Amino acid sequence: MPTETLDRIMKIAERPPIVMVKGAGSWLWDRAGTRYLDFVQGWAVNCLGHSPRVVLDALAAQGAQLMNCSPAYYNEPMAKLATRLAEASGLDQVFLCNSGAEANEGAKPGWGTLFEPKVPGFRRVPLGDLAAVARAIDERTVAVMLEPIQGEAGVFEAGDDFLRELRALTRSHDMLLILDEIQTGIGRTGRLFGYQHAGIDPDIMTLGKGLGAGVPLAALLASAGASCFEHGDQGGTFNGNPLMAAVGCAVMEAVDRKEFLETVAANGSYLAERLRALSANLGHGEVRGRGLLLALELRGLDAKRVASTALDHGLLINAPRPDSLRFMPALNVSLDEIDQMMALLRASLAWR
Ligand SMILES: Cc1ncc(COP(=O)(O)O)c(C=O)c1O
Repeated sequence: MPTETLDRIMKIAERPPIVMVKGAGSWLWDRAGTRYLDFVQGWAVNCLGHSPRVVLDALAAQGAQLMNCSPAYYNEPMAKLATRLAEASGLDQVFLCNSGAEANEGAKPGWGTLFEPKVPGFRRVPLGDLAAVARAIDERTVAVMLEPIQGEAGVFEAGDDFLRELRALTRSHDMLLILDEIQTGIGRTGRLFGYQHAGIDPDIMTLGKGLGAGVPLAALLASAGASCFEHGDQGGTFNGNPLMAAVGCAVMEAVDRKEFLETVAANGSYLAERLRALSANLGHGEVRGRGLLLALELRGLDAKRVASTALDHGLLINAPRPDSLRFMPALNVSLDEIDQMMALLRASLAWR
């Protein structure tokens, strides 16, 4: 393909001049035949790795049966996935959509319509500061929304105690607790949903990324009391389409298993230990996160530069902050692949 073809693509992001052509499990190949060990996985999206068999099978079977009947009609995979997600979470109703942003948007109007202004009405407070949350509450406050682990911000845990305290605080004020589990949900932290570590129940939760394992699928889940959409409040051409919903069902079937989640937790601990040992050895900082959503704090190196060097070494990692590298491999990554990643990372950190 001539480079002019790439020039036809709007420049919405800085991209290296390589073109990815193939993926399998934890590995990606570019057009020149170079192989990369992928610890980004579409930004924590490909929870079962690249082109997993269960997703291919679900796409083929559902594609042959029914791809799209419009959101004007119910379809079977839509009902099946909604039921499975509701039962797994203890929440009551589910709205299926295509992206995390859309799911989060749907988490707001329920209360935004009661209390204007709608979406802009957020007050931000420091993560983990319960007193700051309490101070920010006034008679117009109807909900608290957060990620159990802030992903894009650099992998900062809210902490189980803080989540429990927030749950108690929001209950005592008759407010909703809304969890954005788009990055932490679907097994990423070693439990199906991140909040389960804290033993709490949210009123509303959003899911995305891993739910579709590589296809665009997201969900908004709400308790009966918070599920207040009426006809016309939300919608979209592809919402709840059978093809994506069938993939969501296959993903839940694969991930929502005790042994699978235990392996994610164990492999996450192994990766964290290896990162801690490397960090101690090379004089870097803390390792943050849980399960297979981890970050390594760097000292004296620019994380973006390290990620770029890693790419040259055949390793994909990402740098959410100038001082942090993030690791979000496939949930079925092997110990051997983790070891290979550590060797490539060590080489990338040593490079000056
Ligand atoms: C926690 C969280 N919420 C929401 C989003 C937005 O999701 P999407 O890019 O699918 O719209 C992201 C994306 O990175 C995310 O990490």
